[in-house]
Amino acid sequence: MKKGIIFISGRGSNMESILKESRNGILKGLLEIPLVFSNNPQAPGLKIAEENGIKTAAISSRGKSREIFDKEVIQEIEKYLPDYIILAGYMRILSPEFIRKYQGKIINIHPADTRLHQGLNGYKWAFENGLPETKITVHFVDEGLDTGEIIGLEKVDLSGVESLEEVEKRGLATEHRFYPEMLKKIITNQS
Ligand code: GRF
Repeated sequence: MKKGIIFISGRGSNMESILKESRNGILKGLLEIPLVFSNNPQAPGLKIAEENGIKTAAISSRGKSREIFDKEVIQEIEKYLPDYIILAGYMRILSPEFIRKYQGKIINIHPADTRLHQGLNGYKWAFENGLPETKITVHFVDEGLDTGEIIGLEKVDLSGVESLEEVEKRGLATEHRFYPEMLKKIITNQS
């Protein structure tokens, strides 16, 4: 069984779906979550993790340099000997030191095709450009912004959408199914 620490900054809906799949679904017996970590002590997702009986840790990143903050994070998480760092709405760019330490083990979900749109507001970008469909990317994290090796892409049909909320609703439903599927793919390919 592999160990994955989930990193969140806010709502935590992807985290919730990974927890569910690891407990009783397609990740059962493959992935355990020893810790959910947040750089935001107020993240609503922390409460959801606790309600699910998962250990949490939060360290505020406010006002700290990337290097200093990430050193504190490494100290906090290293004792769990994670096989994977699973970013799920983690809104803080990782330092090169962190990325090198966990090279090839950091995974992210991005609400657009990373080859077409990097950074924030992927759904807004798709909506404002009137795209008939968009894509969700699950990828490894390297030192660039959304430039790491793509693990998988999944289409989201946007035909007939009338609002950004509708785009987000369809996109998130896809994310919640697709992220656990891609984690399964990584774990089974690597073990
Ligand atoms: C998702 O849209 C994810 O793709 C992006 O941030 C959002 C996080 O949502 N990286 P949640 O916290 O998992 O609900």
